[in-house]
Amino acid sequence: MPHPVRFDRIEAVGVITLDNPPVNAFSLSQRIGVSEALTAGLQDPDIQAFVICGSGRMFSAGADIREFDTGVAGESPTLMDLISLIENSPKPVVCALHGTALGGGCELSLACHSRIAIPGTRIGLPEVTLGIVPGAGGTQRLPRLIGVLPALDAIVSGKPMTAEKAHELGLVDGLADDSDDLLKISVSIAHRLSIGPEPPKKTRDRDGHLLEAQNRPELFDEFRSRISRRARGFEAPFACIDCVEAATTMSFENGLAFEREVFLRCRSSNQSLSQRHAFFAEREARKVSGLGPETSQTDVRHAAVLGCGTMGTGIAMCFANAGIPVIVTESEQGMLDRGMKMIRKNYASTVSKGRMTEEEAEARLALIEPTLEFERVSAADVVIEAVFEEMELKKKIFTRLDGLCKADAILATNTSSLDVNTIAAVTGRPEQVVGTHFFSPANVMRLVEIVRGDHTSPEVLATTLTLSKQLGKVGVVVGVCDSFAANRMLYPYSRQAQFLIEEGAFPEQVDKVIYDFGFPMGPFALSDLAGIDVGWRVRQHREPSRPKHLRYSEIADRLYEMGRYGQKTRKGWYNYEEGSRIPMPDPEVVDLVVRTSRELKIDRREISDEEILQRCIYPLINEGARILEEGIVQRASDLDIVWLYGFGFPRYRGGPMFYADSVGLRHVYEVMQGFCEIHEDWLEPAPLLERLAREDKTFAEWDTE
Ligand code: CAA
Ligand code: NAI
Repeated sequence: MPHPVRFDRIEAVGVITLDNPPVNAFSLSQRIGVSEALTAGLQDPDIQAFVICGSGRMFSAGADIREFDTGVAGESPTLMDLISLIENSPKPVVCALHGTALGGGCELSLACHSRIAIPGTRIGLPEVTLGIVPGAGGTQRLPRLIGVLPALDAIVSGKPMTAEKAHELGLVDGLADDSDDLLKISVSIAHRLSIGPEPPKKTRDRDGHLLEAQNRPELFDEFRSRISRRARGFEAPFACIDCVEAATTMSFENGLAFEREVFLRCRSSNQSLSQRHAFFAEREARKVSGLGPETSQTDVRHAAVLGCGTMGTGIAMCFANAGIPVIVTESEQGMLDRGMKMIRKNYASTVSKGRMTEEEAEARLALIEPTLEFERVSAADVVIEAVFEEMELKKKIFTRLDGLCKADAILATNTSSLDVNTIAAVTGRPEQVVGTHFFSPANVMRLVEIVRGDHTSPEVLATTLTLSKQLGKVGVVVGVCDSFAANRMLYPYSRQAQFLIEEGAFPEQVDKVIYDFGFPMGPFALSDLAGIDVGWRVRQHREPSRPKHLRYSEIADRLYEMGRYGQKTRKGWYNYEEGSRIPMPDPEVVDLVVRTSRELKIDRREISDEEILQRCIYPLINEGARILEEGIVQRASDLDIVWLYGFGFPRYRGGPMFYADSVGLRHVYEVMQGFCEIHEDWLEPAPLLERLAREDKTFAEWDTE
């Protein structure tokens, strides 16, 4: 196999260019290529120094993650071998960074004798997001270059920093204007270092920055407690802290060995397997049948949002945050003013938390233009309708849009449950109509279900997928069905949670089990946040059309009748003190629950945490299996992405379908079968689940069938 590395000479400097598209990942063959180029250059008396740079979009995305499960990552030369060759090279090595330098790519640069970057280059160690620690010396060298606290921030958050920030911190030694300048400066520095009186300085020897932490070792425990809420349930962030701490208590060699041991342990953990699954699943979700690189797309330069309520305001902010000018329109001035006030309040709160400057907030606000002139939608490349969830109203709006919008404008509806085909059918251009189901709060939640109607064109679908990425969202394509994928799976989950309290549990017990599993909150706390009135309204449409025997628990209806709408009324499943979001159990609710059980002639029983978990999670997996069978999504991993980004399913469990695979589908099937026998057929196992269980297969295998 030819090695994806180029070697050129500029006077006495050997320039090694990584050329392994699309991301210059350090696969075995790239490692061999760099190692051979270095070894040859070290033996060549005409070469006095090296520059390592990347071709294409970036320097490097790091180790080739696909090699983790094949054993190739450990084949010689390993990234560690390569990095050691660089650091110990008697001829100076300069790293020229552009685009992105992540993970092993960044670690390799840390061992070079100098680093130059183009402003805007993103440099960092995102390994923690894959459930591992940096495994090629990053936890030992970064603190030596920039100090322990900044290194902890970077490694434990996994967030890349810009080259400008890296320059400020001392990670990068110089900035270049563009790629020509980058090479020129890097070659010149390599040359200068090669003729200097001193041998190249090794990062491993720069211990000065460690002193502060060595004198104040308690900072590590402080850091642990600082992240304890945010990183709840995750192993890797704490493993990262252990490794950085080791840099301050051990020799460099021992620190490196410690990091290696932790890296290998993390890499083989279930958490890392799950988080790597999530990484690739997110990328798979972008691959949509019928779309390819040849599918043409339109540029979205102007947007319009119809309806300035809960969702419209959030969606308008998404456009503004992405730098796309957007008009928002309403049925009357009062509503428009109220919506704009909400948007302003939202930005002000971000500013007050120090997450945005006043100027940035003003610049974004300036991109949102409120107007009552509906006709102005005619200038938009994309229109997102977010008015009330009423079919007749949506039909009226789409008829008007059809008469006003440009021929190639995308006409999107944010409906959460209505039939996108019926909406599209009122237009003369159903191919331009698509669903964009944002989640609340739309400016925060990352998931967008992109609903492909029967006639949605590939161009519209591809443009909408690209747009969702531009807006910082994760788009998952779903087909038309009642409530689409996310909410359809949520119903059996919330439904079972409510049956459980009729049978003997209490909301706080159920919520604790789900919280401990890793969700940000349990189903009852979620219901209080979303609004018990919202759920009640949905049930008015949905429940009458269900077969009679599919009864639902009516406790939530009783709460609605009592005016307990959730956090907004400070009373719902729980009580909330003024200004607080902390749920507090209320004897009135306990009373209601016990009374309901009595009315239903249910003997309340002790319910185990295990049963609670299985009764909530397995039915949603079961519904996922039905969704797969119906072809509503393309693959099981798409449903994982839906739950990771739509409802905060713990990433270290990979998503519900991956979780099901890891506990075993036979087990899930048997438990569902058992529940079904006791609680009747709203728990009937899906045929696909049954088939895969019988064949001893996984959803992942079904994906590749
Ligand atoms: N290894 C293998 N494949 C990778 C990869 C990696 N490190 N990074 C990206 N890819 C693949 C993607 O899966 C995708 O493949 P498909 O086209 O087949 O789906 C392709 O490269 C392009 O990637 P993206 O679609 O993500 O491209 P993007 O432009 O949107 O983003 C990126 C680019 C920011 C670099 C992003 O790909 C990314 O974040 N990559 C992972 C970075 C990372 O976590 N690095 C650490 C690796 S672990 C490590 O290095 C351990 C160590 O210490 C030894
Ligand atoms: P909302 O009631 O907060 O806002 C709807 C807005 O539309 C109101 O401000 C109303 O004045 C306005 N409106 C009504 N008729 C209009 C017209 N003819 N022209 C312009 N504006 C008009 O409703 P919400 O919650 O924002 O929902 C909007 C849509 O988003 C619905 O289809 C809903 O199902 C969907 N959705 C809602 C979610 C939520 O959590 N609230 C989540 C995902 C989707």
